[in-house]
Amino acid sequence: MPDTQPNTPLAALLADIRAITGDRGLLTEASDTAAYAEDWRKLYQGRTPAVIRPASTAELAAVVAACARAGVALVPQGGNTSMVAGATPSADGSELVLSLARMNQIRLVDPVDLTLTVEAGCTLKAAQDAAAEAGCLLPLSISSEGTAQIGGVLATNAGGNNTVRYGNARDLVLGLEVVLPDGQVWNGLRRLRKDNTGYCLRQLFVGSEGTLGVITAAVLKLVPRPVETVVALCAVGSAQAALDLFTRFNRHDPAAIQAFEYMSGAGMQFVLRHIPGATLPCAASGHYALVELATPRANAGLREALEDVLATAMEDELVIDAVIAESEAQRAALWKLREEHAEAQKREGASVKNDVSVPVSRVPELLARAAVAGEALIAGMRMVPFGHMGDGNIHLNFAQPPDMDAAVFLAQDHDIMDMVGAIVRDLDGSFSAEHGVGRLKPYMMPEWRGGAELDTMRRIKQALDPRGLMNPGKVLP
Ligand code: MLT
Ligand code: ZN
Repeated sequence: MPDTQPNTPLAALLADIRAITGDRGLLTEASDTAAYAEDWRKLYQGRTPAVIRPASTAELAAVVAACARAGVALVPQGGNTSMVAGATPSADGSELVLSLARMNQIRLVDPVDLTLTVEAGCTLKAAQDAAAEAGCLLPLSISSEGTAQIGGVLATNAGGNNTVRYGNARDLVLGLEVVLPDGQVWNGLRRLRKDNTGYCLRQLFVGSEGTLGVITAAVLKLVPRPVETVVALCAVGSAQAALDLFTRFNRHDPAAIQAFEYMSGAGMQFVLRHIPGATLPCAASGHYALVELATPRANAGLREALEDVLATAMEDELVIDAVIAESEAQRAALWKLREEHAEAQKREGASVKNDVSVPVSRVPELLARAAVAGEALIAGMRMVPFGHMGDGNIHLNFAQPPDMDAAVFLAQDHDIMDMVGAIVRDLDGSFSAEHGVGRLKPYMMPEWRGGAELDTMRRIKQALDPRGLMNPGKVLP
């Protein structure tokens, strides 16, 4: 830990920062900073002498400029829900955490332009609620939306449950405000659907995971709020059956599919075991599909369409059993079975996560091959695949064998990731579909993105942040 005694360079910097943010904007007590120094999965225990919590873009820019002058690195942090430790400071205590939490205002909702202008520290849930109040939908939904903040969601180009219909976070961004590594503010908060004026800077910062600058506000695209939404949970006999069901809904009306999620029997058991109030309202199976259809058109016959597709699929023995939500509470209960997968898995014990994507058509092959290879690697290890089948993104996670020591299991994490990686590569997939690279996976970049691609990324980093002060150790090896 750097010396925080009076008259050191760090003490002088912290005094400068306190003069910018006031006492409320600077935490230095270990009891206050500890939660910001550890990642959600508790894989990394970092240390930091201070957490800075600016209240405005002007304050944040002045803080970044002061740190740049002092040569001190910053770790931008939103809701701290990263799955790859993308917002965790290093263990040597040399980095300051920059929390966006106090910059959480909704600046504008425009139901005619269908835009939402929002500050980076606003939670995704609060942004969704603001859109809903104006009769609109912010079509981005992730399991951690109650805690995850807009800045982090954009910096990591989050995907989630609605990618099948609306794309990833980057597909919803019209404008950004960004504080650059030298403290300059780029105000690109434009609300234009067409703006063809040189390099698209906003897309450079989306997905850069805080390594090129700090996103402080954004203009997001909204869509009209659906007037009808229907959700069904289906027990199916195999991953192939789930995919075939997806194809049937797609052939029926691709524009109606809001989400198509897959869950395995193992993951469902974890949820039923660990999440209070969770119950299974259909027959138990080794595989499940959760399908949500939605339309902004009145009297579109959505419920009938859902029932028709499911009835035919049951006749054809594709679907074993299905339940359709009859109320908003039932809809929430069905989604809870899916969204609590990450939490339930954490409570079950140690796990190794593989957030991979393959072409949608190859998901069943991915699961079949990984099941065999996983058992060959560590006997008794439990495969817990779940996620966004409609866009080909499966969380191909492995839980420790029940009788194995957690540390012994986790010591083999790279072997497990390599085993999954080899199959994913063979199927023309990606090693990180939606969670990003963070601190967990930069070592994979040379193999997967080496050559001209990684070289170009390094040159961009060098151009914007030549001293490497923005979120060091993340993304680039
Ligand atoms: C999810 O889809 O629930 C999240 O991406 C979390 C996870 O992968 O565990
Ligand atoms: Zn996910």
